[in-house]
Amino acid sequence: MADKKITLSVFTADVGGFVGHTSSHPEVLDVARETLASLGKGRIRDFQVLRCGDDLSLVLTHSMGVDDRGIHGLVWDTFLACREVAEELKLYGSSRGMLDDFTGNVRCLGPGSAEMEFVERTSEPVLIFLANKTSVGAWNFPLYKIFADPFNTAGLISDPAMLAGFTFRVLDLKEGRAIDLSTPEELHVLLALIGSTSRYVVTSVARRTDGEVAAVVSSEKYDVHAGRVGASSEPALIARCQSGFPAVGEVMEAFSFPWLVSGWMRYSHIGPVMPVPFYEANSARFDGPPRVISAGYQLSDARLIGPHDMFDDPSFDETRKTANQAAGYLRRQGPFQPHRLPLEEIQYSSMPIILNKVKERFKKI
Ligand code: F6R
Ligand code: MG
Repeated sequence: MADKKITLSVFTADVGGFVGHTSSHPEVLDVARETLASLGKGRIRDFQVLRCGDDLSLVLTHSMGVDDRGIHGLVWDTFLACREVAEELKLYGSSRGMLDDFTGNVRCLGPGSAEMEFVERTSEPVLIFLANKTSVGAWNFPLYKIFADPFNTAGLISDPAMLAGFTFRVLDLKEGRAIDLSTPEELHVLLALIGSTSRYVVTSVARRTDGEVAAVVSSEKYDVHAGRVGASSEPALIARCQSGFPAVGEVMEAFSFPWLVSGWMRYSHIGPVMPVPFYEANSARFDGPPRVISAGYQLSDARLIGPHDMFDDPSFDETRKTANQAAGYLRRQGPFQPHRLPLEEIQYSSMPIILNKVKERFKKI
């Protein structure tokens, strides 16, 4: 009999910030735990509740596969319970992250989801990355480093299982189409596309020797603000590690440089991603700078053994320092591009209102 597959799912939602868009309130996290414990009985194998900035994350293991209606339903009900307590506490923006009617998949309604199904190995180390004040293409850079750059990942040239490389699935956000590109052969085409982070997004990575899933990203979600399916603004990333996949330390190494992403204040600015321990995932300066946390787990028959707080490590101090310096440098440029995003990329702009106010005053020259 074939080994049974398990599903590892990460769901994220913004159910209300504390204070403003900085962080999450402990009561909301408690309600998430209580609700999952009661609704998940007999339906999920294990769960944990995490948060990065003002975004709440539910980590679940189960046997139902990806995009399962029942699992998405109980996640939806959990987020609703969280939103209810957020409303009671008058936390900030609690009505903005979710639509009201569940239609079978949380992704269509506001929250983001990253899910993968696999047969658990004898020992299964996984890393979950959660971000705040970033945008969906944010993981393109570290995913390239982890799975295609031998200067980052020594295993690409020394582990026979990785020698053949990895296949990246890239979603074209504009056309709603995806392409599979295999490295090392198609590295240049891959970089040509995914360097345009606002249009091309890596959504998953698979090992070429056997097609095993190595990483998944939450990429699309319903943008309640804009009223359409758009890019998940606080994407989650799951990566499997060791023996045939990049080592834990190789995955972590990709985060040692505070690369620049779109997001930060009003999702309209470019800023460096700062890797922080859980307790420092509070976006305070100019609603940022963008953060990433990493929760490490060993799976044991679908039990989540962890989390280990992976960035709680002084070897990331210099990265944080560089991120602070880059943040200070960029901030001095105020409303000028490229610190502020180009007009087409600003998500919630009051520009139409401003332009409307002055439109009569524009004279043809
Ligand atoms: C949103 C965010 C913030 C807000 C900003 C303005 O998650 O990160 O930067 O965009 O605080 O918020 P409002 O428009 O609610 O006053
Ligand atoms: Mg948020």
